[in-house]
Amino acid sequence: MKITCVLLLLSILFCGLTTWAGSPSDDGCIKKCHIIKPYVKNSDNPNLLVSKHKAQGLGCESCHERDAATVKEEEKRYKSKDYSDPIEQRQYEAEFCLKCHESYQAVAERTSHLKEEWGRNPHESHLGEIDCSECHKMHGPSKFVCAECHTANWKERLPQGWVTE
Ligand code: HEC
Ligand code: HEC
Ligand code: HEC
Ligand code: HEC
Repeated sequence: MKITCVLLLLSILFCGLTTWAGSPSDDGCIKKCHIIKPYVKNSDNPNLLVSKHKAQGLGCESCHERDAATVKEEEKRYKSKDYSDPIEQRQYEAEFCLKCHESYQAVAERTSHLKEEWGRNPHESHLGEIDCSECHKMHGPSKFVCAECHTANWKERLPQGWVTE
C-alpha cells in the first residue's frame, strides 16, 4: 500500500490523503514524495486558494480524483521514469470549478456588488466567460487579468495573495 502511494505520487500525483477527512496520522507517503510535498505544505498558506478549500474540509482527492485505469497508467509511467521533475504545471477549464461552483452566472452574482465598488464585475465583462484559471490559481498566486488594461488601486482592492502582473 505504501509503495503504491509512493509510485503514484512520484508519477505526478496524490495518494489517499485521507488525513484531513479522517485518519489523523497516515501521511507516510506524503512525507516521502519530494515533488508533492510542497503542495501539501502550501495548502495551509492563506495566500493560496487551496487553503480556503482545505478549510472547507476538501482534501486533495476532492479535486484530483483518479480512476483505476489512471492509477495503473501512473504506475507504468513511474516504472519507466516517465514523469517530470519539477512537476508538470496543469491548467483546468471552467467546468472543473463549476462542478462545485454551479455556473458562471452564479459566481457573477456573488460578486455583483463589485460592479458598484470597482466599476466592474470580474465575472461579467466584455471578455465573456473566460476560464477561471485565467485569474484564479489554486496552488500559486492568483492574477487579476482585467488590470492589464484597466488601471486602478487594485492592490488595495484585491483579496490577500492576488497579483496584477
Ligand atoms: C479545490 C480544488 C483543488 C484542491 C483541493 C487541490 N488542488 Fe491541486 N490543483 C488544482 C488546480 C486548479 C490545479 C492547476 C494549477 C493551479 O491552479 O495552481 C492543480 C494542480 C495540482 C498539481 C499539478 C502541478 C501544478 O502546479 O499545476 C499538483 C501536483 C497538485 N495540484 C497537488 C495537490 C495536492 C497535493 C493537494 C492537496 C494538498 C491539492 N492539489 C489540492 C485544484 C485543487
Ligand atoms: C470539490 C468542490 C470544489 C471545486 C472543484 C472547486 N471549489 Fe472553490 N470552493 C468550494 C467550496 C465548498 C467553497 C466554500 C464555499 C463557497 O465559498 O462557495 C469554495 C470556495 C471558493 C472561493 C472563495 C474562497 C474564499 O475566499 O473564501 C473561491 C474564489 C473558489 N472557491 C474558486 C474556485 C476555483 C477558481 C475553482 C477551480 C479552479 C474551484 N473553486 C474549484 C468547492 C470547490
Ligand atoms: C477576470 C478574473 C477572474 C475570473 C476569470 C474568475 N474570477 Fe472569480 N474572482 C475574481 C476576483 C478578483 C475575485 C475576488 C473578488 C472579491 O471578493 O474581492 C473573485 C472571487 C471569486 C469567488 C468568491 C466570491 C465571493 O463570494 O466573494 C468565487 C467563488 C469565484 N471567484 C469563483 C470563480 C469561478 C468558479 C470562476 C470561473 C467560472 C471565476 N471565479 C473566474 C476574478 C476572477
Ligand atoms: C485587452 C484590454 C482589456 C482587458 C484585459 C479588459 N478590458 Fe475592459 N475594457 C477595455 C477597453 C478598451 C474598454 C473600453 C474603454 C472605454 O470605452 O473607455 C473596456 C471597457 C470596460 C468596461 C466599460 C466601463 C469602463 O470601465 O470603461 C467594463 C465594465 C470593463 N471593461 C470590464 C472589464 C473586466 C471586468 C475585465 C476583466 C475580466 C476587463 N474589462 C478586461 C479593455 C480591456
